[in-house]
Amino acid sequence: MALKTINPTNTKAWSKLQAHFKTIEDKHLNELFENHSNRVNEMTIRWDDFYVDFSKHRISNETLDLLIELANEVDLKDAMDKYFNGDVINKTEGREVLHTALRCPEKSSVLVNGENVMPEIFEVKHKIKNFSNKVIHGELQSYTGQAFTDVVNIGIGGSDLGPAMVVDALAFYKNQLTTHFVSNVDGDHVNEVIKNLNPETTLFVIVSKTFTTQETLSNANTIRSWFLKHAPKEAVSKHFVAVSTNIEKVKDFGIDEANIFPMWNWVGGRFSLWSAVGLSISLAVGYENFDKLLLGANKMDSHFKTAEFDKNIPVITGLLSVWYNNFFHAESEAVIPYSQYLNQFATYLQQGIMESNGKSVDRNGDKINYQTGTIIWGEPGTNSQHAFFQLIHQGTKLIPAEFIGFAKSLHGNQDHQDKLMSNFFAQTEALMNGKTETEVIQELKAQGLSEDQIKSLTPFKVFEGNKPTTTFLINQLTPESLGKLIAMYEHKIFVQGIIWNIFSYDQFGVELGKQLATTILKEIESNNITGAHDASTQQLLDYYKSVK
Ligand code: F6P
Repeated sequence: MALKTINPTNTKAWSKLQAHFKTIEDKHLNELFENHSNRVNEMTIRWDDFYVDFSKHRISNETLDLLIELANEVDLKDAMDKYFNGDVINKTEGREVLHTALRCPEKSSVLVNGENVMPEIFEVKHKIKNFSNKVIHGELQSYTGQAFTDVVNIGIGGSDLGPAMVVDALAFYKNQLTTHFVSNVDGDHVNEVIKNLNPETTLFVIVSKTFTTQETLSNANTIRSWFLKHAPKEAVSKHFVAVSTNIEKVKDFGIDEANIFPMWNWVGGRFSLWSAVGLSISLAVGYENFDKLLLGANKMDSHFKTAEFDKNIPVITGLLSVWYNNFFHAESEAVIPYSQYLNQFATYLQQGIMESNGKSVDRNGDKINYQTGTIIWGEPGTNSQHAFFQLIHQGTKLIPAEFIGFAKSLHGNQDHQDKLMSNFFAQTEALMNGKTETEVIQELKAQGLSEDQIKSLTPFKVFEGNKPTTTFLINQLTPESLGKLIAMYEHKIFVQGIIWNIFSYDQFGVELGKQLATTILKEIESNNITGAHDASTQQLLDYYKSVK
């Protein structure tokens, strides 16, 4: 059954939210706290090893009630049932959206066209497990009879960002294999990676759902040519494996069928790390840890399915995002993990969030007259504090931020951990409370500054505060908690897309540029710039031709 197509701005809740917004937009968070004694408890969700505090948001209980009313009016529950039950909710591509099935227990049943897909999911999972174990334990060997030392993942977008982010995030759990990622069609990328590799001990995993992606095929071809300069042709089958839905194309590339790890069209690229796309993860940290990642995601799926909306982490975070995006007209959201391991987390989320919800036509096919997809950005704290936090604290833009921290560090250096976490807590406190003029004056007096100096400096030292944040305090960064966190964002994306009445699971917006690049490449290669371009592009191409 198709998703409902309710324009959120036509709901009663939307009109109520608009009126309510006028009563709250000028209120300071401090005032909201003063007038709401049990605020922190009411606006904190404790679930498993997650502690999620959303009390530092510019909302009241009434805001929450109205946002939940909005979710009910667009029938979020019905959409969730369709999502988990494998209805064709990716209507524009005629596909189910079933990455959640990939982390279901073996005994469950998930139907696609009336057929339970769990047996094939587990067949592939067993294949991943066997293969990873054999590579890690040196049982599967290179063409020269050596154990593999390096793994190179060749893919882009969802076939790169998820595995790359997770391998980085779980570096603590890594085994002896060194994992590399080649994604960009920029030849300098692939050459930088291969320049120090030993072809005799390197395994290549080509990941492409379609196996037609220019970047991935170019990199795979370049790597195979380089490999064949050192190794005989028969060695290819020992060193190249592929993950794809397009078995024929993979075979055409010269990869043995036994070395193909299949995936399915009902798994979107940006949600595919749970499938065989995660093979590099399983190789890097072992299948047991890969499975724990999936277990964590499955736990978050259950939470999302069963928790009441007011205690449901993906629902609340999705609704808050709508609140800022559509009522405060905030354009971006920052994600700040206080863990260097999550260095690539925001980059990973950019594809998930922006490729999914960057849409301007609704599910009726009509042009949208309200804001959709948020711009996502971020870097780990404390590094980001020394980079862009100035703008969040004292700039003119409203940037809701999600702070993600872990109570226990992995290496156990408590001195560093306490310093890290004191920054984590201090930043959200500072963002909320700010610093008043009176406080600034007192501080400057205490420093012994003259009246004149105090007068001229004060305006620059005031912090308005009132900057909204969510705090995710998680026990420890483990494969399981990471799985929960990633799945939380997947469901947040879903909630937003349902409210905005858009199709979150297609990505036609990436195609036009690809088409034009194909035309331009032909012109560049044939040294014949046709003149069919706009004046600016034409001149750029002519200039490139003259200088390259
Ligand atoms: O960027 C567009 C896109 O289709 C993504 O959605 C996808 O993750 C990526 O390209 C890679 O596609 P493939 O896995 O088919 O090579």
